[in-house]
Amino acid sequence: MSKFTVVEHPLIQHKLSILRRKEASTKEFRELVDEIGMLMAYEVSRELPLEDVTIETPVAQMTAKQLAGKKLAVVPILRAGIGMVDGILKLIPAARVGHIGMYRDEETMKPVEYMVKLPTDIADRQIFLVDPMLATGGSAALAVDVLKKRGASNIKFVCLVAAPEGVKALQEAHPDLDIYAASLDDHLNEQGYIVPGLGDAGDRLFGTK
Ligand code: URA
Repeated sequence: MSKFTVVEHPLIQHKLSILRRKEASTKEFRELVDEIGMLMAYEVSRELPLEDVTIETPVAQMTAKQLAGKKLAVVPILRAGIGMVDGILKLIPAARVGHIGMYRDEETMKPVEYMVKLPTDIADRQIFLVDPMLATGGSAALAVDVLKKRGASNIKFVCLVAAPEGVKALQEAHPDLDIYAASLDDHLNEQGYIVPGLGDAGDRLFGTK
């Protein structure tokens, strides 16, 4: 069953409050998304499996721990997801990076994929699928479909701000998916913005309108 976790770490919560402020500059916004991405990766990687390995220190032989199991891939949903990648790679520098690009069809209002570029062994990797905003859940659900179609089964969705509507939709579409957010906000407004949210994450990250 899908697990939804709000990561309550004080550093994440503090940085998220600065990020939300309308006065935050593009530079500050970008730096904060990067830092919060790194802190989220720390929390989300808490349950990665470990295995024993024999090593030699300068003093003695010992049984130490190392990460076991699947290798990692970080997959941002374009374009705002890109803002979280470098922060995650600071902690997990050997992770591969895939990209999933989507646009909204004006008639159906549904997301449509326009670019998918993934590591060839994506089916064998633990995937952190990242997008700062989980709004309707439409793009996230389609991105998970895209990954599953290519054989991936080990996917965690990591966002910063989630709307209850998006969490519900994503859990219904993918009951096996674990979802992590820094905040569960109040609701989606008629324009599709999360309230109170932080505005358009892509525009704020890249300084566009
Ligand atoms: N995407 C954003 O960037 N912000 C929202 O509030 C909702 C979706």
